Amino acid sequence: MQQELTALQDVQGMYEWFQRMRDTQPVWLDENSGCWHVFRYADVNTLITDSTLFSSERRQRPFARPGTRTSPTGEKRERRTGRSIIAMDPPQHRQYRNLVSSAFTPRALSRLSHRITAITQELLDQARPAGQIDFVTDIAYPLPTMVIAEMLGVPTSDRPLFKQWADGLLNRQLSDAEFFRPDETAAHNPEMERLQTLFEEMSDYFEAKLEERRLQPRDDMMSALLAAEVDGEHLSIDDVISFCILLLLAGHVTTTNLLSQSIRCLDEHPDARAQLSQQPELIPGAIEEVLRYASPVWRLARTTTADVTMAGVTIPKDSFVFGWLASANRDERQFSEPARFDITRTPNRHIAFGHGIHFCIGAPLSRQEASIALPMIIQQLPDLQISHKEPLQLFQGRNLFGFQHLPVTFTASK
Ligand code: HEM
Repeated sequence: MQQELTALQDVQGMYEWFQRMRDTQPVWLDENSGCWHVFRYADVNTLITDSTLFSSERRQRPFARPGTRTSPTGEKRERRTGRSIIAMDPPQHRQYRNLVSSAFTPRALSRLSHRITAITQELLDQARPAGQIDFVTDIAYPLPTMVIAEMLGVPTSDRPLFKQWADGLLNRQLSDAEFFRPDETAAHNPEMERLQTLFEEMSDYFEAKLEERRLQPRDDMMSALLAAEVDGEHLSIDDVISFCILLLLAGHVTTTNLLSQSIRCLDEHPDARAQLSQQPELIPGAIEEVLRYASPVWRLARTTTADVTMAGVTIPKDSFVFGWLASANRDERQFSEPARFDITRTPNRHIAFGHGIHFCIGAPLSRQEASIALPMIIQQLPDLQISHKEPLQLFQGRNLFGFQHLPVTFTASK
Protein backbone atom coordinates (compact mmCIF):
# COMPACT_ATOMS: atom_id res chain seq x y z
CA MET A 1 0.00 0.00 0.00
CA GLN A 2 2.85 2.31 0.91
CA GLN A 3 4.35 2.07 -2.54
CA GLU A 4 1.04 3.09 -4.02
CA LEU A 5 1.00 6.32 -2.01
CA THR A 6 4.25 7.37 -3.60
CA ALA A 7 3.14 6.43 -7.14
CA LEU A 8 1.52 9.78 -7.76
CA GLN A 9 2.66 10.08 -11.32
CA ASP A 10 -0.03 7.70 -12.52
CA VAL A 11 -3.35 9.49 -12.28
CA GLN A 12 -5.49 6.52 -13.25
CA GLY A 13 -3.64 4.36 -10.71
CA MET A 14 -4.25 7.02 -8.08
CA TYR A 15 -8.01 7.05 -8.64
CA GLU A 16 -8.05 3.25 -8.54
CA TRP A 17 -6.14 3.40 -5.25
CA PHE A 18 -8.68 5.89 -3.84
CA GLN A 19 -11.48 3.55 -4.85
CA ARG A 20 -9.83 0.57 -3.15
CA MET A 21 -9.15 2.59 -0.01
CA ARG A 22 -12.74 3.89 0.14
CA ASP A 23 -13.98 0.30 -0.09
CA THR A 24 -11.46 -1.49 2.11
CA GLN A 25 -9.57 0.93 4.40
CA PRO A 26 -11.46 4.23 4.44
CA VAL A 27 -9.44 5.37 7.48
CA TRP A 28 -5.82 4.32 7.10
CA LEU A 29 -2.62 4.85 9.10
CA ASP A 30 0.51 5.28 6.98
CA GLU A 31 3.01 3.72 9.35
CA ASN A 32 5.94 5.20 7.51
CA SER A 33 5.00 8.82 8.15
CA GLY A 34 2.70 8.33 11.15
CA CYS A 35 0.00 10.29 9.26
CA TRP A 36 -3.61 9.10 8.91
CA HIS A 37 -5.59 9.22 5.66
CA VAL A 38 -9.35 9.49 5.17
CA PHE A 39 -10.98 8.73 1.81
CA ARG A 40 -14.79 8.76 1.95
CA TYR A 41 -16.84 11.89 1.25
CA ALA A 42 -18.75 11.83 4.56
CA ASP A 43 -15.57 11.33 6.62
CA VAL A 44 -13.54 13.93 4.72
CA ASN A 45 -16.42 16.37 5.14
CA THR A 46 -16.47 15.76 8.90
CA LEU A 47 -12.69 16.12 9.06
CA ILE A 48 -12.69 19.54 7.40
CA THR A 49 -15.81 20.95 9.08
CA ASP A 50 -15.62 19.75 12.68
CA SER A 51 -13.01 22.13 14.04
CA THR A 52 -13.64 20.97 17.62
CA LEU A 53 -12.35 17.46 16.93
CA PHE A 54 -10.05 18.30 14.01
CA SER A 55 -7.84 21.31 14.46
CA SER A 56 -6.32 23.31 11.60
CA GLU A 57 -3.69 24.69 13.87
CA ARG A 58 -0.62 22.75 12.87
CA ARG A 59 1.04 21.48 16.02
CA GLN A 60 4.13 20.62 14.01
CA ARG A 61 4.94 23.66 11.93
CA PRO A 62 7.28 22.68 9.16
CA PHE A 63 8.94 26.08 8.86
CA ALA A 64 9.34 26.65 12.58
CA ARG A 65 11.79 23.98 13.59
CA PRO A 66 12.82 23.61 17.20
CA GLY A 67 15.79 25.78 17.96
CA THR A 68 15.14 28.27 15.18
CA ARG A 69 13.00 30.38 17.49
CA THR A 70 16.08 31.43 19.41
CA SER A 71 17.48 33.36 16.42
CA PRO A 72 15.84 36.61 15.21
CA THR A 73 15.14 34.99 11.81
CA GLY A 74 13.64 31.95 13.49
CA GLU A 75 11.42 34.13 15.65
CA LYS A 76 10.21 36.07 12.63
CA ARG A 77 9.51 32.83 10.78
CA GLU A 78 7.60 31.43 13.76
CA ARG A 79 5.40 34.55 13.96
CA ARG A 80 4.63 34.49 10.25
CA THR A 81 3.97 30.78 9.73
CA GLY A 82 2.22 30.27 13.03
CA ARG A 83 -0.56 32.71 12.20
CA SER A 84 -1.67 31.77 8.72
CA ILE A 85 -5.49 31.89 8.46
CA ILE A 86 -5.49 28.39 7.02
CA ALA A 87 -3.87 27.11 10.23
CA MET A 88 -6.20 28.78 12.74
CA ASP A 89 -9.11 27.50 14.81
CA PRO A 90 -12.06 29.41 16.27
CA PRO A 91 -12.37 31.90 17.87
CA GLN A 92 -9.12 33.31 16.44
CA HIS A 93 -10.03 32.16 12.92
CA ARG A 94 -13.40 33.96 12.96
CA GLN A 95 -11.87 37.25 14.03
CA TYR A 96 -9.07 37.02 11.47
CA ARG A 97 -11.40 35.90 8.65
CA ASN A 98 -13.71 38.86 9.34
CA LEU A 99 -10.72 41.16 9.09
CA VAL A 100 -9.39 39.78 5.82
CA SER A 101 -12.87 39.39 4.32
CA SER A 102 -13.40 43.09 4.76
CA ALA A 103 -10.62 43.58 2.17
CA PHE A 104 -11.91 40.74 -0.04
CA THR A 105 -15.38 41.91 -0.95
CA PRO A 106 -17.53 40.89 -3.94
CA ARG A 107 -17.19 44.49 -5.17
CA ALA A 108 -13.37 44.17 -5.20
CA LEU A 109 -13.78 40.97 -7.21
CA SER A 110 -16.29 42.35 -9.69
CA ARG A 111 -13.91 45.22 -10.42
CA LEU A 112 -11.48 42.58 -11.68
CA SER A 113 -13.74 41.04 -14.30
CA HIS A 114 -12.75 43.43 -17.12
CA ARG A 115 -9.08 42.89 -16.25
CA ILE A 116 -9.53 39.11 -16.45
CA THR A 117 -11.07 39.52 -19.92
CA ALA A 118 -8.30 41.90 -21.05
CA ILE A 119 -5.46 39.71 -19.75
CA THR A 120 -6.99 36.57 -21.32
CA GLN A 121 -7.33 38.40 -24.63
CA GLU A 122 -3.74 39.61 -24.47
CA LEU A 123 -2.49 36.05 -23.82
CA LEU A 124 -4.65 34.58 -26.59
CA ASP A 125 -3.47 37.26 -29.05
CA GLN A 126 0.12 36.24 -28.30
CA ALA A 127 -0.70 32.54 -28.61
CA ARG A 128 -2.91 32.41 -31.75
CA PRO A 129 -0.23 32.94 -34.46
CA ALA A 130 2.00 30.22 -32.97
CA GLY A 131 -0.23 27.20 -33.63
CA GLN A 132 1.32 25.48 -30.62
CA ILE A 133 1.96 26.60 -27.07
CA ASP A 134 2.55 25.24 -23.61
CA PHE A 135 -0.91 25.91 -22.20
CA VAL A 136 0.45 26.12 -18.63
CA THR A 137 3.32 28.50 -19.36
CA ASP A 138 1.47 30.66 -21.85
CA ILE A 139 -2.08 30.90 -20.44
CA ALA A 140 -3.00 28.89 -17.34
CA TYR A 141 -0.08 30.19 -15.26
CA PRO A 142 0.17 33.86 -16.31
CA LEU A 143 -3.58 34.61 -16.16
CA PRO A 144 -4.26 33.93 -12.45
CA THR A 145 -0.78 35.16 -11.51
CA MET A 146 -1.33 38.52 -13.18
CA VAL A 147 -4.81 38.78 -11.65
CA ILE A 148 -3.68 38.05 -8.09
CA ALA A 149 -0.61 40.28 -8.52
CA GLU A 150 -2.79 43.19 -9.68
CA MET A 151 -5.24 42.53 -6.89
CA LEU A 152 -2.54 42.54 -4.22
CA GLY A 153 -0.73 45.44 -5.84
CA VAL A 154 2.61 43.78 -6.65
CA PRO A 155 4.21 44.33 -10.10
CA THR A 156 3.15 41.67 -12.63
CA SER A 157 6.71 41.90 -13.98
CA ASP A 158 7.81 40.05 -10.82
CA ARG A 159 6.03 36.96 -12.22
CA PRO A 160 9.24 34.94 -12.67
CA LEU A 161 9.94 35.47 -8.97
CA PHE A 162 6.44 34.25 -7.98
CA LYS A 163 6.89 31.21 -10.18
CA GLN A 164 10.23 30.43 -8.62
CA TRP A 165 8.68 30.63 -5.13
CA ALA A 166 5.54 28.70 -6.00
CA ASP A 167 7.42 25.95 -7.82
CA GLY A 168 9.99 25.80 -5.05
CA LEU A 169 7.49 25.67 -2.19
CA LEU A 170 4.73 23.57 -3.72
CA ASN A 171 6.82 21.13 -5.74
CA ARG A 172 8.54 19.95 -2.59
CA GLN A 173 10.74 16.90 -2.76
CA LEU A 174 10.17 15.75 0.83
CA SER A 175 8.14 12.72 1.84
CA ASP A 176 5.32 13.15 4.37
CA ALA A 177 7.56 11.58 7.00
CA GLU A 178 10.27 14.18 6.42
CA PHE A 179 7.95 17.15 6.05
CA PHE A 180 5.61 16.55 8.97
CA ARG A 181 8.19 15.36 11.48
CA PRO A 182 10.92 17.91 10.83
CA ASP A 183 12.17 17.64 14.38
CA GLU A 184 12.87 13.93 14.03
CA THR A 185 13.82 13.22 10.47
CA ALA A 186 14.64 16.42 8.66
CA ALA A 187 16.45 18.54 11.20
CA HIS A 188 19.36 19.00 8.84
CA ASN A 189 17.64 18.20 5.59
CA PRO A 190 18.92 20.54 2.85
CA GLU A 191 15.48 20.45 1.20
CA MET A 192 13.93 21.84 4.40
CA GLU A 193 16.60 24.56 4.47
CA ARG A 194 15.75 25.41 0.86
CA LEU A 195 12.04 25.70 1.68
CA GLN A 196 12.78 27.94 4.64
CA THR A 197 14.98 30.20 2.56
CA LEU A 198 12.27 30.57 -0.08
CA PHE A 199 9.74 31.38 2.60
CA GLU A 200 12.01 34.06 4.04
CA GLU A 201 12.56 35.58 0.60
CA MET A 202 8.80 35.89 0.16
CA SER A 203 8.41 37.40 3.65
CA ASP A 204 11.10 39.98 2.99
CA TYR A 205 9.60 40.82 -0.39
CA PHE A 206 6.18 41.55 1.14
CA GLU A 207 7.66 43.33 4.14
CA ALA A 208 9.30 45.86 1.79
CA LYS A 209 6.15 46.28 -0.34
CA LEU A 210 3.98 46.74 2.76
CA GLU A 211 6.33 49.33 4.19
CA GLU A 212 5.83 51.36 0.99
CA ARG A 213 2.03 51.11 1.52
CA ARG A 214 2.31 52.03 5.17
CA LEU A 215 4.05 55.26 4.18
CA GLN A 216 1.76 55.87 1.23
CA PRO A 217 -1.46 53.81 0.95
CA ARG A 218 -2.61 52.87 -2.57
CA ASP A 219 -5.77 51.45 -4.10
CA ASP A 220 -4.76 47.81 -3.70
CA MET A 221 -5.34 44.85 -1.40
CA MET A 222 -2.06 45.23 0.47
CA SER A 223 -3.13 48.73 1.55
CA ALA A 224 -6.66 47.49 2.31
CA LEU A 225 -5.26 44.72 4.52
CA LEU A 226 -3.10 47.20 6.40
CA ALA A 227 -6.17 49.39 6.96
CA ALA A 228 -8.61 46.53 7.70
CA GLU A 229 -10.36 47.04 11.02
CA VAL A 230 -13.07 45.04 12.79
CA ASP A 231 -14.25 46.12 16.28
CA GLY A 232 -11.22 48.40 16.56
CA GLU A 233 -8.79 45.54 15.79
CA HIS A 234 -6.14 45.75 13.05
CA LEU A 235 -3.97 43.02 11.55
CA SER A 236 -0.36 42.99 12.70
CA ILE A 237 2.31 43.43 10.03
CA ASP A 238 3.26 39.74 10.41
CA ASP A 239 -0.37 38.74 9.85
CA VAL A 240 -0.57 40.83 6.70
CA ILE A 241 2.70 39.37 5.39
CA SER A 242 1.53 35.84 6.10
CA PHE A 243 -1.83 36.49 4.39
CA CYS A 244 -0.17 38.07 1.32
CA ILE A 245 2.04 35.00 0.96
CA LEU A 246 -0.96 32.69 1.23
CA LEU A 247 -2.96 34.75 -1.28
CA LEU A 248 -0.11 34.86 -3.75
CA LEU A 249 0.45 31.10 -3.58
CA ALA A 250 -3.17 29.96 -3.18
CA GLY A 251 -4.33 32.57 -5.64
CA HIS A 252 -2.46 31.37 -8.67
CA VAL A 253 -1.28 27.75 -8.60
CA THR A 254 -4.71 26.32 -7.79
CA THR A 255 -6.41 28.29 -10.55
CA THR A 256 -3.60 27.36 -12.97
CA ASN A 257 -4.50 23.75 -12.21
CA LEU A 258 -8.22 24.39 -12.64
CA LEU A 259 -7.63 25.94 -16.08
CA SER A 260 -5.27 23.23 -17.31
CA GLN A 261 -7.47 20.43 -15.91
CA SER A 262 -10.43 22.03 -17.73
CA ILE A 263 -8.50 21.77 -20.99
CA ARG A 264 -7.57 18.14 -20.26
CA CYS A 265 -11.17 17.21 -19.37
CA LEU A 266 -12.53 18.83 -22.55
CA ASP A 267 -9.77 17.21 -24.64
CA GLU A 268 -10.78 13.81 -23.27
CA HIS A 269 -14.50 14.57 -23.70
CA PRO A 270 -14.96 16.19 -27.12
CA ASP A 271 -18.76 15.89 -26.87
CA ALA A 272 -18.72 18.09 -23.79
CA ARG A 273 -16.52 20.58 -25.57
CA ALA A 274 -18.83 20.68 -28.62
CA GLN A 275 -21.80 21.17 -26.31
CA LEU A 276 -20.06 24.07 -24.53
CA SER A 277 -19.26 25.85 -27.77
CA GLN A 278 -22.97 25.63 -28.70
CA GLN A 279 -24.29 26.37 -25.21
CA PRO A 280 -21.87 28.66 -23.32
CA GLU A 281 -24.48 28.94 -20.57
CA LEU A 282 -23.33 25.46 -19.49
CA ILE A 283 -19.82 26.79 -18.67
CA PRO A 284 -20.40 27.35 -14.90
CA GLY A 285 -21.68 23.76 -14.50
CA ALA A 286 -18.73 22.45 -16.52
CA ILE A 287 -16.29 24.27 -14.22
CA GLU A 288 -17.95 22.71 -11.16
CA GLU A 289 -17.60 19.30 -12.80
CA VAL A 290 -13.88 19.86 -13.48
CA LEU A 291 -13.47 20.85 -9.82
CA ARG A 292 -15.16 17.59 -8.77
CA TYR A 293 -13.68 15.26 -11.37
CA ALA A 294 -10.10 16.59 -11.28
CA SER A 295 -9.94 18.43 -7.93
CA PRO A 296 -6.99 20.87 -8.06
CA VAL A 297 -6.32 20.50 -4.32
CA TRP A 298 -5.94 16.79 -3.62
CA ARG A 299 -5.88 16.74 0.13
CA LEU A 300 -6.17 18.86 3.29
CA ALA A 301 -4.69 18.24 6.73
CA ARG A 302 -6.01 18.48 10.28
CA THR A 303 -4.84 17.36 13.75
CA THR A 304 -7.13 15.43 16.13
CA THR A 305 -7.87 17.14 19.45
CA ALA A 306 -9.16 13.90 21.07
CA ASP A 307 -9.42 10.20 20.18
CA VAL A 308 -11.88 10.08 17.26
CA THR A 309 -13.63 7.04 15.80
CA MET A 310 -14.39 7.14 12.10
CA ALA A 311 -15.66 4.26 9.99
CA GLY A 312 -15.00 1.99 12.99
CA VAL A 313 -11.34 3.01 13.34
CA THR A 314 -10.07 5.06 16.28
CA ILE A 315 -7.59 7.79 15.44
CA PRO A 316 -5.67 8.80 18.57
CA LYS A 317 -5.53 12.36 19.91
CA ASP A 318 -2.82 14.57 18.35
CA SER A 319 -2.69 12.59 15.10
CA PHE A 320 -2.04 14.26 11.79
CA VAL A 321 -4.89 13.37 9.40
CA PHE A 322 -5.17 13.95 5.65
CA GLY A 323 -8.59 14.17 4.03
CA TRP A 324 -8.40 13.34 0.34
CA LEU A 325 -10.74 15.79 -1.43
CA ALA A 326 -9.90 14.11 -4.73
CA SER A 327 -11.17 10.80 -3.40
CA ALA A 328 -14.21 12.29 -1.63
CA ASN A 329 -15.26 13.97 -4.86
CA ARG A 330 -15.22 10.58 -6.61
CA ASP A 331 -17.11 8.71 -3.86
CA GLU A 332 -19.97 6.63 -5.24
CA ARG A 333 -21.71 6.98 -1.87
CA GLN A 334 -22.19 10.67 -2.71
CA PHE A 335 -22.16 10.95 -6.51
CA SER A 336 -23.86 8.74 -9.09
CA GLU A 337 -21.39 7.40 -11.66
CA PRO A 338 -18.55 9.45 -10.14
CA ALA A 339 -16.01 8.41 -12.79
CA ARG A 340 -18.19 9.94 -15.52
CA PHE A 341 -17.40 13.53 -16.55
CA ASP A 342 -20.83 15.14 -16.81
CA ILE A 343 -21.02 18.90 -17.35
CA THR A 344 -24.75 18.90 -16.56
CA ARG A 345 -24.41 17.02 -13.26
CA THR A 346 -26.97 18.19 -10.67
CA PRO A 347 -26.65 18.30 -7.79
CA ASN A 348 -22.87 18.57 -7.67
CA ARG A 349 -21.95 19.08 -4.02
CA HIS A 350 -18.22 18.67 -4.47
CA ILE A 351 -15.85 19.84 -1.73
CA ALA A 352 -13.01 20.97 -3.99
CA PHE A 353 -12.98 24.38 -2.25
CA GLY A 354 -13.26 22.78 1.17
CA HIS A 355 -16.31 23.24 3.41
CA GLY A 356 -17.19 25.00 6.65
CA ILE A 357 -15.32 27.86 8.25
CA HIS A 358 -12.19 27.50 6.08
CA PHE A 359 -14.16 27.40 2.80
CA CYS A 360 -11.92 28.95 0.16
CA ILE A 361 -11.99 32.77 0.23
CA GLY A 362 -10.83 32.80 -3.40
CA ALA A 363 -13.55 30.47 -4.77
CA PRO A 364 -15.57 33.29 -6.39
CA LEU A 365 -12.39 34.67 -7.98
CA SER A 366 -11.31 31.29 -9.42
CA ARG A 367 -14.81 30.60 -10.71
CA GLN A 368 -14.87 34.05 -12.29
CA GLU A 369 -11.46 33.59 -13.94
CA ALA A 370 -12.37 30.18 -15.36
CA SER A 371 -15.83 31.23 -16.52
CA ILE A 372 -14.39 34.24 -18.39
CA ALA A 373 -11.31 32.49 -19.84
CA LEU A 374 -12.77 29.13 -20.89
CA PRO A 375 -15.39 30.39 -23.39
CA MET A 376 -12.78 32.75 -24.89
CA ILE A 377 -10.35 29.86 -25.33
CA ILE A 378 -13.02 27.57 -26.82
CA GLN A 379 -14.16 30.28 -29.21
CA GLN A 380 -10.75 31.58 -30.29
CA LEU A 381 -8.85 28.28 -30.43
CA PRO A 382 -11.69 26.01 -31.63
CA ASP A 383 -9.51 23.05 -32.64
CA LEU A 384 -7.14 23.17 -29.64
CA GLN A 385 -5.83 19.70 -28.80
CA ILE A 386 -3.37 18.37 -26.27
CA SER A 387 -0.26 17.14 -28.02
CA HIS A 388 0.36 13.67 -26.59
CA LYS A 389 3.81 13.25 -28.12
CA GLU A 390 5.25 12.99 -24.63
CA PRO A 391 3.62 11.82 -21.38
CA LEU A 392 2.03 14.67 -19.43
CA GLN A 393 4.21 15.90 -16.59
CA LEU A 394 2.29 16.16 -13.34
CA PHE A 395 2.99 18.77 -10.70
CA GLN A 396 5.19 17.25 -7.98
CA GLY A 397 4.15 17.00 -4.36
CA ARG A 398 1.09 15.44 -2.85
CA ASN A 399 -1.29 18.31 -2.32
CA LEU A 400 -2.03 19.77 -5.72
CA PHE A 401 -3.18 18.14 -8.94
CA GLY A 402 -2.01 19.88 -12.07
CA PHE A 403 0.53 19.80 -14.84
CA GLN A 404 3.98 21.32 -15.04
CA HIS A 405 3.53 21.64 -18.80
CA LEU A 406 0.61 21.04 -21.14
CA PRO A 407 1.69 21.20 -24.80
CA VAL A 408 -1.26 21.99 -27.07
CA THR A 409 -1.68 22.56 -30.82
CA PHE A 410 -4.29 24.46 -32.86
CA THR A 411 -4.63 26.08 -36.27
CA ALA A 412 -2.50 29.22 -36.24
CA SER A 413 -4.34 32.47 -36.95
CA LYS A 414 -3.79 36.20 -36.53
C1 HEM B 1 -8.84 27.91 1.43
C2 HEM B 1 -9.04 25.32 -2.68
C3 HEM B 1 -8.30 29.36 -5.25
C4 HEM B 1 -7.35 31.73 -1.18
C5 HEM B 1 -9.00 26.87 0.53
C6 HEM B 1 -9.38 25.52 0.89
C7 HEM B 1 -9.41 24.80 -0.27
C8 HEM B 1 -9.08 25.69 -1.35
C9 HEM B 1 -9.72 23.32 -0.42
C10 HEM B 1 -9.73 25.03 2.29
C11 HEM B 1 -8.51 24.80 3.16
C12 HEM B 1 -8.84 24.13 4.48
O1 HEM B 1 -10.00 23.83 4.81
O2 HEM B 1 -7.88 23.85 5.21
C13 HEM B 1 -8.89 26.20 -3.73
C14 HEM B 1 -9.04 25.84 -5.13
C15 HEM B 1 -8.85 26.97 -5.86
C16 HEM B 1 -8.56 28.04 -4.91
C17 HEM B 1 -9.39 24.44 -5.65
C18 HEM B 1 -8.89 27.20 -7.35
C19 HEM B 1 -9.41 26.39 -8.22
C20 HEM B 1 -8.01 30.36 -4.38
C21 HEM B 1 -7.73 31.72 -4.74
C22 HEM B 1 -7.43 32.37 -3.59
C23 HEM B 1 -7.55 31.44 -2.51
C24 HEM B 1 -7.80 32.28 -6.17
C25 HEM B 1 -7.06 33.81 -3.36
C26 HEM B 1 -7.22 34.78 -4.17
C27 HEM B 1 -7.68 30.90 -0.13
C28 HEM B 1 -7.55 31.27 1.27
C29 HEM B 1 -7.99 30.18 2.02
C30 HEM B 1 -8.36 29.14 1.07
C31 HEM B 1 -7.06 32.60 1.82
C32 HEM B 1 -8.03 30.06 3.54
C33 HEM B 1 -9.42 30.34 4.06
C34 HEM B 1 -9.54 30.07 5.56
O3 HEM B 1 -8.71 29.37 6.13
O4 HEM B 1 -10.49 30.61 6.16
N1 HEM B 1 -8.83 26.96 -0.83
N2 HEM B 1 -8.58 27.52 -3.64
N3 HEM B 1 -7.89 30.23 -3.02
N4 HEM B 1 -8.17 29.62 -0.21
FE1 HEM B 1 -8.45 28.61 -1.92
